[in-house]
Amino acid sequence: MEEAIVVDGLRKTYRTKKRRGLLGGETVVVEALRGVSFSVRRGEVVGLLGPNGAGKTTTIKIIATLLLPDDGDAFVMGHSVVREPWRVRENIGLMLTVEKGFYGKLTGRENLEYFAALYGLPRGVAEKRVAELLSLLELDKLGAADRLFEEYSLGMKARLGLARALLRDPPVLLLDEPTLGLDPPSARRIRELVKSLAHREGKAILYTTHNMFEAEIVCDRILLINKGRIVAEGSPEKLKEMIPYTRTIVVQARIPEKPVPEKLGVLGDASISPLGGGVYEIRVRAKRPREVLGELIHAVVGLGGDILDIRMEEPTLEDVFIYFSRGEGDGER
Ligand SMILES: Nc1ncnc2c1ncn2[C@@H]1O[C@H](COP(=O)(O)OP(=O)(O)OP(=O)(O)O)[C@@H](O)[C@H]1O
Ligand SMILES: [Mg+2]
Repeated sequence: MEEAIVVDGLRKTYRTKKRRGLLGGETVVVEALRGVSFSVRRGEVVGLLGPNGAGKTTTIKIIATLLLPDDGDAFVMGHSVVREPWRVRENIGLMLTVEKGFYGKLTGRENLEYFAALYGLPRGVAEKRVAELLSLLELDKLGAADRLFEEYSLGMKARLGLARALLRDPPVLLLDEPTLGLDPPSARRIRELVKSLAHREGKAILYTTHNMFEAEIVCDRILLINKGRIVAEGSPEKLKEMIPYTRTIVVQARIPEKPVPEKLGVLGDASISPLGGGVYEIRVRAKRPREVLGELIHAVVGLGGDILDIRMEEPTLEDVFIYFSRGEGDGER
């Protein structure tokens, strides 16, 4: 498959002045990207996931030619963001969280027609394309196509943002938290569209979200970024295999007195919550669940407890995220 986005050793440092009264202040230096490299093929949705401030938006802005890197380069369909930004712009559709640039006093349709003209689409082609997109994003169905943008809800704005990104039918889409704050039907519509644009139309899509459920169903591959570096990469399944505690043991037991982790002899990541009626749920993340389970049962019985239920849970993408974003690795078993 064709590499549509290639990111090669991106570095970016922001320098800002910290305000202190009226008389200037010290310069604050933030190393937002410390050598980020990855690629995205056509037909693939790649999720860029990481905690707040990890460098996701900065990466997207550099690929979109809105920011220049301090070092490294990124290529879209073979064109360098540093040397041929205009070529890059012809090949991308961009959607940022805060939708800027739409005109409040124009309708959704008029806004899209305006951008189509700006992108140089001939009038007849533009009209047809705009109508197609209004229908694809269901803005016509929501009765929003011919309403003023300033009256739009968040979900309508997001749909219009995606429609604008698709105007030129670009091979590459950059979507920064496209479902942020949307209701379930709008979020689902956007997710379905993103998948079909990649899988059926062969677009290369770079996608950010803080919703792990969404990342798991939308992304073919995930890049985890933390403090300006890619710390893990792979399919959701592969990432789950990378974390040391492979399972969470969940035991429900009726115990005469409230158990404390120390008394259960279970070290590491254990939590105990009362379920009422003297019943407690004990959850332990473990790398070697069999051994830990044996110890746990022994300890519960030793406290005069009665085991009601035992189950094992597979790690979630959220566990993976938390593991890599706090640079964990000690004390697990
Ligand atoms: N214009 C700017 N000036 C100064 N610092 C900035 C600027 N933009 C971003 N930063 C800093 O760079 C770092 C990376 O920010 P970025 O917006 O790329 O993170 P992010 O991964 O998109 O986070 P979020 O999940 O909160 O959207 C942060 O420490 C942020 O404070
Ligand atoms: Mg961001």
